[in-house]
Amino acid sequence: MSLFRRKSIEAFEADMKKSELKRVLGKWSLTAIGIGAIIGGGIFVLTGTGAYYHAGPALALSFIIAGIACVFAALCYSEFASMIPVEGSAYAYAYGTIGEIFAWIIGWGLVLEYAMGSMTVAVSWSGYFNKLIGLFGVHLPNWLTQDPGSYQGTGFSMNLPATIIVLLVTALLVKGTKEAAKANNIIVVVKVSAVLFVIIVGAFCVHSANWVPFIPEATQIIEGTKVHEAYGWGGIISGAAAIFFAYVGFDAVSTQAGEAINPKKDVPFAIIASLLVCTVLYILVSLVLTGMMNYHDFNPLGKYPNAIKAPVAMAFEIAGMPWAVFIITVAATVGLISVLMVMMLGQSRIFLGMSKDGLIPKFFSELHPVNKTPYKNSIFLGVIIALVAGFTPINTLADMTSFGTLFAFTMVCIAVWLLRVREPNLQRNFKVPALPVIAVCGICINVFLMYNLDHRAQLLSFAWLALGLVIYFAYSKGNSKLNNQ
Ligand code: ALA
Repeated sequence: MSLFRRKSIEAFEADMKKSELKRVLGKWSLTAIGIGAIIGGGIFVLTGTGAYYHAGPALALSFIIAGIACVFAALCYSEFASMIPVEGSAYAYAYGTIGEIFAWIIGWGLVLEYAMGSMTVAVSWSGYFNKLIGLFGVHLPNWLTQDPGSYQGTGFSMNLPATIIVLLVTALLVKGTKEAAKANNIIVVVKVSAVLFVIIVGAFCVHSANWVPFIPEATQIIEGTKVHEAYGWGGIISGAAAIFFAYVGFDAVSTQAGEAINPKKDVPFAIIASLLVCTVLYILVSLVLTGMMNYHDFNPLGKYPNAIKAPVAMAFEIAGMPWAVFIITVAATVGLISVLMVMMLGQSRIFLGMSKDGLIPKFFSELHPVNKTPYKNSIFLGVIIALVAGFTPINTLADMTSFGTLFAFTMVCIAVWLLRVREPNLQRNFKVPALPVIAVCGICINVFLMYNLDHRAQLLSFAWLALGLVIYFAYSKGNSKLNNQ
């Protein structure tokens, strides 16, 4: 049936040979792209929520669980990348295995991860940027930093810094992947140094009494009409869903396969290496943070009302190192630029793959004559992301980004297993060990985390996927290259 038609692996190989993208990314640049996408605002912001509303000192266990969910998915992504090294990531993998309609819906779902993620990141970048210039005594008026939905005053308002950063990153992406990768490498050094700073300096300020009891008894935190089920193992698991956003990004490496020098080997390496590095850093940060500050002190109604919004910075302020706030603010401001860059890069490459297959208009796969980047695609996305980030209250929708990511992870775990059964003899440079176990664990844990996300985000994400189906039947099914062969 045409809904389940599949693109053959040979067709992917042929596409790869025809590709005009420049192959400029080596093993370490790809790993830096992974780290560049993963470490962002999440680790500096969500740790307070994770500790206070969910896991307490056992936040590190939440990070371990979310990390394990990602490792399962990362292994499955790696097997695919070693076989189908094209730019479409999970979308392409599904097209080669489960069939067109699933591929479409995954590609459409990835918009939540990459485009929605970019909007969320641009808005949080604006927050850090304002804080940073505030440290130098510069304050932009509220009407220039708030979208019309959040602005309390009358008249025109927009989040100008968010719009400008998206447009600047777009210009860099149009210029070339190599230029973007160089900028990313520098930023990665800055942010990994900042995270190491938090871990090493913070370790000297830990009070081990804050870790006792490590897993506090299950309880309810009641705030007005809201009831949060906190602590105990239930809190550790809901905490894993709450901080999952901090891990979003490593799969972006797989969208760069079209520009990798040796994609079949280096993309799997970079996916796994970047994830492992960040998992270790995240576990250490969460241990240090909950050791520096008692989890009760993240209470937004308690003595440090701002701690929930900026937990890491607050922990250092309380420890008598207000200058550390400066380091963390600089790291987050600079660091978020590379998250934005890789997410926008990933989105444009997924659309590039979908457009080459005829599922979205040809416009998205037209390359710049000199730079060989999909410039029309990048500019189109850049303008939309810039406008949404500048004019809508998007900052509450990080959970939709997590939903899109977990959805793609689940599908990749299913698809890799299916292809192993269907085509066991295909050459695979990387094979997931004990695949049935890993795939089943990956599917279960990812679905479980999706189930634990914010209810509103779940509903909105399903609405987005439903809209995708309408577009598929109205446009993509008829225009698919497989339809016209
Ligand atoms: N993982 C990225 C962040 O935390 C998206 O900002």
